[in-house]
Amino acid sequence: MTPDFIPVNEPLLDGNEKKYLAECIESGWISSEGPFVRRLEQGVAQRVGRNFGIAVCNGSAALDVAVAALQLGLGADVILPTFTIISCAAAIVRAGATPVLVDVDPMTWNMDVSQVEAKITSRTRAIMVVHTYGLPVDMDPVLTLAEKHGLKIIEDAAEVIGQTYKGRPCGSFGDISTLSFYPNKHITTGEGGMVLTDDPELTERCRSLRNLCFQKKRFVHDELGWNFRMSNLQAALGVAQMERLGEFVARKREMGQRYNELFKDVNGLQLPVAKTRYTDNIYWVYGVVLNDDIDFDAEIAINRLTNLGVGTRPFFWPMHEQPVLRQLGLFRGESYPIAERLARRGFYVPSGLALTENQQNRTVDSIKTLCG
Ligand SMILES: Cc1ncc(COP(=O)(O)O)c(C=O)c1O
Repeated sequence: MTPDFIPVNEPLLDGNEKKYLAECIESGWISSEGPFVRRLEQGVAQRVGRNFGIAVCNGSAALDVAVAALQLGLGADVILPTFTIISCAAAIVRAGATPVLVDVDPMTWNMDVSQVEAKITSRTRAIMVVHTYGLPVDMDPVLTLAEKHGLKIIEDAAEVIGQTYKGRPCGSFGDISTLSFYPNKHITTGEGGMVLTDDPELTERCRSLRNLCFQKKRFVHDELGWNFRMSNLQAALGVAQMERLGEFVARKREMGQRYNELFKDVNGLQLPVAKTRYTDNIYWVYGVVLNDDIDFDAEIAINRLTNLGVGTRPFFWPMHEQPVLRQLGLFRGESYPIAERLARRGFYVPSGLALTENQQNRTVDSIKTLCG
């Protein structure tokens, strides 16, 4: 890779990260027992408006813990969008439940909430919402359905710490909600994640599940958990990052608005929706979708952009087209045309916090070359 290659993501680590990491090393607190873990849990929970945060080793683990903690029962159905990351469906399957899919909205790329009610049956126990690429799911209809049918809400807020829906923080809508702190997120701990809830019993279950379900009598277990603990080193990074969440969110919004301006005259692209009835886009990533009159697909675009020195990532590949899930006998004969099209036509361009204006200009110029 050439030195001027534009990475798809680069985090900003120039606040108190080094200082807090040095504190861990100097004090010897590097495991999950250290004080930064609790500080991060409290800081994030408070920022998102929740009573409890349970730090874990990544956002996928957070989903596993969240779904397992709810004890939905074997064979319970959980409704989720097909356009998401495998971690969502995997957590449902691993908990012995069944993922049931809906398609996404062609403009916002989020769960099409108008399709949810038709999928609710006597087996349905929960709806998993996934706020995608910077815009939140339209939560009001989901909350109404959950109330009407007595369903739990699992909220995957991995991509949207700092985003709101009608002024209320994302991450505050689920009976249980999850975050990721991977380096492409607004707040990073290298690898990391968190479960959020207001329920003290669920909190205890999550803490237990993340820590091998140790009991009072150590090394005797009634239940199988995982070692999904977050280290003090990771949490130290997170505490430093949280000090800058407001700044990071503002930076992302500026980046997105600047791309909107630069891409205005480029033909053949669908750009992210800047504003919905319920919020402004936070542009976690800046996604573009190739119009049907462009005679190549996202895979070809990604290869050509790599050759031009621009890092990109494809959009999600839908759950109903995942070989591993189909081998389990799931989703036979099902089709979700919007997600199928997004997967084949969509990709995102460099969108990290360290992205410079010059890199943005070069990215857009490269795409202009591509699309003519
Ligand atoms: C919506 C969503 N959920 C879950 C995850 C998983 O997070 P992690 O990579 O920390 O396991 C991601 C990762 O990007 C994500 O985008």
